[in-house]
Amino acid sequence: MLAVAVLAAGKGTRMKSSLPKVLQPLAGATLVERVLSSCNGFQPERQLLIVGHKAEQVEQQLNHLQGLEFVLQQPQNGTGHAVQQLLPVLEGFDGELLVLNGDVPLLRPSTIEQLLNEHRSSGADVTLLTARLADPTGYGRVFSDQQGRVSTIVEHRDCSDEQRQNNLTNAGIYCFNWKKLAAVLPQLCSDNDQGELYLTDTVALLPIAMHMEVADPDEVNGINDRRQLAQCEALLQERLREHWMKEGVTFVDPSSCTLSEDCQFGMDVVIEPQTHLRGRCNVGDGCKLGPGSLLTNADLDQGVSVLHSVIDDAKVGKQVKIGPFAHLRPGTHIADNCRIGNFVELKKSHLGEGSKVNHLSYIGDAELGRNINVGAGTITANYDGMMKHRTVIGDHSSIGANSVLVAPIVLGTKVTVGAGSTLTKDVPNGALALGRAKQLMKEGWSAPRKTQD
Ligand code: UD1
Ligand code: CA
Repeated sequence: MLAVAVLAAGKGTRMKSSLPKVLQPLAGATLVERVLSSCNGFQPERQLLIVGHKAEQVEQQLNHLQGLEFVLQQPQNGTGHAVQQLLPVLEGFDGELLVLNGDVPLLRPSTIEQLLNEHRSSGADVTLLTARLADPTGYGRVFSDQQGRVSTIVEHRDCSDEQRQNNLTNAGIYCFNWKKLAAVLPQLCSDNDQGELYLTDTVALLPIAMHMEVADPDEVNGINDRRQLAQCEALLQERLREHWMKEGVTFVDPSSCTLSEDCQFGMDVVIEPQTHLRGRCNVGDGCKLGPGSLLTNADLDQGVSVLHSVIDDAKVGKQVKIGPFAHLRPGTHIADNCRIGNFVELKKSHLGEGSKVNHLSYIGDAELGRNINVGAGTITANYDGMMKHRTVIGDHSSIGANSVLVAPIVLGTKVTVGAGSTLTKDVPNGALALGRAKQLMKEGWSAPRKTQD
């Protein structure tokens, strides 16, 4: 039987933030979500989150996670004190307790699995994850023998100069025999620089404490300040890009692009510099993104190109060309072979196959059919100051440049709108609609001029 406890009650003083540390975002997910999801695969019997600082805010953010039990630690008197809160909660539990620090977000599930296996096969009372770090500043130092038996862990701030030379560090990830741990937890004392109860002190109290050194020290980066947050973001981004490069995505300038973990790419996608994908993006075969684009929850079919544009919660069909400088806002759905050109903004609108909005337009709350050409500068006037209204345009229509379609309005199929029209009435199929002042001509007329004297 396995129980998992994530320590997430600390304030994170060093972040200097109003947000609890474990709610800081990293590549689109909070630190604590990352830590929790790293052990999803093990289907633990119990999943416990120890909360304290701004507990309601943390709980509210994570309420949607099924099976997660919140355990309150009040006040926050150290990591050992945090785990002491589990004593009543896990009373009678017989199995392993996996303890994860809520601020160590890059841990791979395979590493946790290795730690569990190691712990089970050695029969230790506790097995903790360690790393040899080039710069161990701030981490607890682990003192062990050749066989991997740990005698003690000393926090950086409590170390003597000599002890600080030891670069074997505590990752903050532990697998305990719960019954054994429960027996020693009440013995912790706060005889240290911070005057707190340290979970790390349990290793000296347990008869058999072992450690397992992680192969990739990057996995156990702890986040205490913004600098470490930025370093982890960089590492995570590198992992993501490397993964997708192996899967056949080209990055012209990898380090200038960022991705979220919920992105999926087809084959032969090319990502040009300064392009960022956030949220849940789907990018089909042969798409070309960037340079200079931001996509959030974008669903792109095959062969789409996006140049210097912003796409937010929109769906785009095959071979569509977008940009430069287009903005697709939420609820936009563009069918195959459309063209969305320079300085065009679309919101909550559907475009049928082969339609084109090439220059300087705003199309909002509109339903456009197939093969429509929307001339430069066309605006759907969708807002009357109170409500939004719809514009409908039928297949094969052609809207002249600089037209204003005042919604609600329905234009039929094969409609032609003369350039510069302001339309307020529906237009039947096949009609030409003109809504502009007639051009006035006065032949032989020249402007009066000042007489010179
Ligand atoms: C801790 C370890 C250190 C290790 C490092 C790895 C201890 C005493 N030290 O130090 O050996 O090298 O992690 O990253 O455990 N928390 C609570 N309640 C509290 C205090 C903290 O839940 O009362 C939580 C925090 O929210 C955080 C985690 O425990 O998620 C670690 O706390 P933090 O103060 O960051 O410990 P470190 O000083 O980094
Ligand atoms: Ca920490």
